[in-house]
Amino acid sequence: MTSQGDKPTPAREERWTPDLLVLRERMPREAWGTLPQGSLPGTWIAMHDSLRSGQDMLERLATHWQLKLIDAAAFRERALPLLQQHLGHLHGHHRLEDTHYFPQFRSIEPQLAKGFDALEGDHGALHGDIDALEDLARRLATQDMQSPEANGLIQQLAQALHRFGPSLRQHLLDEEDLVIPLLAIAQNHAPPNDAA
Ligand SMILES: [Fe+2]
Ligand SMILES: [Fe+2]
Repeated sequence: MTSQGDKPTPAREERWTPDLLVLRERMPREAWGTLPQGSLPGTWIAMHDSLRSGQDMLERLATHWQLKLIDAAAFRERALPLLQQHLGHLHGHHRLEDTHYFPQFRSIEPQLAKGFDALEGDHGALHGDIDALEDLARRLATQDMQSPEANGLIQQLAQALHRFGPSLRQHLLDEEDLVIPLLAIAQNHAPPNDAA
């Protein structure tokens, strides 16, 4: 499995205040490669990696169309099933987090509650973009590919995919900073706390 935990921490601005990063201090990103594959934190990273991979594939297709490496019909044939699967995956994942995992995490670690509130807020913002992507996909599915509007519609979808990617990737990274250490510690996959 290629996990985000095996890769160096990407350079990015820190979103969380130090009080929200106390668990990551104990279980930093560099240590996540040691998480057992079947463990919940290992599975969480694998799930996020599959969301990143779905988004990457769609953005690659969008770029290929923009560079005229594929035509409109080929773009539609490849992108629509992938997009449907990717957005369905995101709906299911966020629903499970909002209704099941985040409430549990707030009760396990009340000091991280404001972080989970912020992540839930991200889901709301991301779903505004997802609604727009679904609307474009629905219109493209029934579009006459010979019509003058077809190219404009694909261009809108390609641009929307490129705009959505950075927000989604940022959300996944921010969430991992809170969730992976919390789960690793709760499931005894973290080194002992020297300060305890
Ligand atoms: Fe999330
Ligand atoms: Fe997530």
